[in-house]
Amino acid sequence: MNPTRPELTAALRDYAARIERVLESRLPAAAETPQKLHRAMRYSVLGGGKRIRPLLTYATGRALGASLESLDAAAASVEIIHAYSLVHDDLPAMDDDSLRRGQPTCHVAFGEATAILAGDALQAFAFELIADCAHTASASCGTMLLQLARACGSQGMAGGQALDLDAVSRTLTQDELAHMHHCKTGALIRASVLLGAAAASFSDERRLAALGRFGLAVGLAFQIRDDILDVEGSTEVIGKTRGKDAAADKPTYPGLLGLAGAREAAQFERAKALTALADSGVESEELADLARYAVDRLN
Ligand code: IPE
Ligand code: IPE
Ligand code: MG
Ligand code: MG
Ligand code: MG
Repeated sequence: MNPTRPELTAALRDYAARIERVLESRLPAAAETPQKLHRAMRYSVLGGGKRIRPLLTYATGRALGASLESLDAAAASVEIIHAYSLVHDDLPAMDDDSLRRGQPTCHVAFGEATAILAGDALQAFAFELIADCAHTASASCGTMLLQLARACGSQGMAGGQALDLDAVSRTLTQDELAHMHHCKTGALIRASVLLGAAAASFSDERRLAALGRFGLAVGLAFQIRDDILDVEGSTEVIGKTRGKDAAADKPTYPGLLGLAGAREAAQFERAKALTALADSGVESEELADLARYAVDRLN
């Protein structure tokens, strides 16, 4: 991936540089015991990645008046949950992938048992970061923990992954496919937005609901683009083995609607996201840019 990220505006690039520093400094040091586990955790989080989830957290929080410092724990926590989800997603029992972000996947580099434990420990660490109220506005702590727990549990990411595994070799309706993608990817992306709002102590229910719709639509657009890149991307650019969805007979947007139909569906979600953003009354070019980036990105 191009580290200068020319597709992002200067503010978004600053957030991207900031989250690298935050992750690097907050993760347990590789020299700390158990060293192999800590090395696997750091390998899985620090090995690149677009960081769209923390960027959404920073952009939302800043638009609502939060300081960057008050957003660091939330931004790091959503990225760490995401990294854990990828480590487990790549395991032989799930997607059985050997390449991630252009590097061997965690279980290839460290063994399956360590990869499972690295995922487990990363999940716990994400909650620890928020629960450590030294880094979080204490009134928001409970809200943030609840948002994150719902986003990664059985009705969020883990539930979506279960639907994904269940759907192999089956034909889903478009509604079923959208539900699966909402759960496996949309829920955490929505939480990335809502955690930014919570860190800013923003509590207007109506506007929060609109921000939630924004996040969910960006999340669905992002996963549709992921499905498209699995078909038309190149392994070098996407950093993972192209064509794995078709090889594993997974239901995807291009599989159901064709490439043109999938592109249209992604654009439709982007438009929905921008409408929801306008409804929220949150004025943020950065959030609008991230909604565009979700569907235009090349990796
Ligand atoms: C890949 O996520 C898995 C999905 C949920 C689509 P990303 O495309 O955000 O992966 P990285 O973090 O940039 O590698
Ligand atoms: C992953 O979806 C969603 C997660 C919650 C990890 P994919 O299985 O399509 O993600 P990639 O293509 O391996 O990154
Ligand atoms: Mg998967
Ligand atoms: Mg996968
Ligand atoms: Mg994919």
